[in-house]
Amino acid sequence: MAYSTLLIEDVKAVRWITVNRPEKLNALNRQVLDDLGAALEAAAGDGAVAAIVVTGAGEKAFVAGADIAEFVGLTAAQAAEMARRGQSLFSRIERLTKPVIAAVNGFALGGGCELALACHLRVASTNAKFGQPEVKLGLIPGYGGTQRLARLVGRGRALELLLAGGTVDAATAQAWGLVNRVTEPAELRAAVQKLAESILAVSPVAVARCLESVSVGEGMPLERALELEATLFGMCFAAEDAREGVAAFLEKRPASFPGR
Ligand code: COA
Repeated sequence: MAYSTLLIEDVKAVRWITVNRPEKLNALNRQVLDDLGAALEAAAGDGAVAAIVVTGAGEKAFVAGADIAEFVGLTAAQAAEMARRGQSLFSRIERLTKPVIAAVNGFALGGGCELALACHLRVASTNAKFGQPEVKLGLIPGYGGTQRLARLVGRGRALELLLAGGTVDAATAQAWGLVNRVTEPAELRAAVQKLAESILAVSPVAVARCLESVSVGEGMPLERALELEATLFGMCFAAEDAREGVAAFLEKRPASFPGR
C-alpha cells in the first residue's frame, strides 16, 4: 500500500518505514500519524515482516517534532485529544510484538524524540540531536515524552531536557542510554539493517514474548510483572521454536526456527 507521507521498503524481512516530509523536517502532522498507524498495523499483520525500522527522509532530520502549524487555534480539549491520538499510536508501537528500531538520522525533537522513545531500540547517526523543546513554545510534550524519557534515562537527565528545552548530541544520548548505538551517517542504514537481522536470526516467538514481557511488565508492580514473565516463559514451551532451539543446542547444530 502507498502512503502520501511515508516511503515503504522491505529489505529481507525488515520493513523500512520512512517519514517523507523532508521539506518540513519530517514534522508529524495528522496525515503522518494516520499513515504511520496504518503502516505499522500492516507491518504487524504481514507474515513476511519480522522487524520494523522507522526513520526520516533526507539528511537533516529524523522527525523535528509535531507539526507546529497544526497547533494554531487549538482549544484545550482539541489539544488534549491530539495528545491522546499520538499517545495511542506510540503506545501501539511500544506494544508491537515485532521489534521496532528507530534509525535516528538527524534532529529527533519533540514528537520525533517521543517517536524514537516509543521504539524498542534506537540507533543514531553522529549528526543526531535529541530534545524536548516544547517549553520554548509554552507547551509540554504530549506524545509520552514526560513519561518515557524519564523511564529510559532517569528523572534528572529527563528533567534537564524537558525543563530547559535544550538538545543532546548522539554521543551524550549514548552515554545516557537514550540510544543503543551511534554510527557515521553513511553507515546508519547498514548498521540498523545488521542489528535487525541479528534479531531475525533468533526465535520470533521468543522475541515476541520478550517484547511483551518488557513492555507490558514495565507498567506493573514487580510481583505481577514477574508472574507475567513466568506465564510467558511457560507459553514459550508450548511453541515449536523452543523445542527446536533446545534440541539444536543439545545436538550441537544451528537452530532453524519455524517461528511458531
Ligand atoms: N513543525 C512544523 N514545521 C517545522 C517543524 C515542526 N516541528 N520543524 C521544522 N519545520 C519546518 C520549518 O518551519 C521550515 O519550513 P519552511 O521552509 O516552510 O519555513 C522547514 O521545516 C525547515 O526548518 P528550518 O527551521 O528552516 O531549519 P533550521 O535548520 O533552520 O532549523 C530546527 C532546524 C530543527 C532547529 C528548527 O526547524 C526547529 O526548531 N524546529 C522546531 C522544533 C520543535 O520545536 N519541535 C517540537 C514541536 S512540539
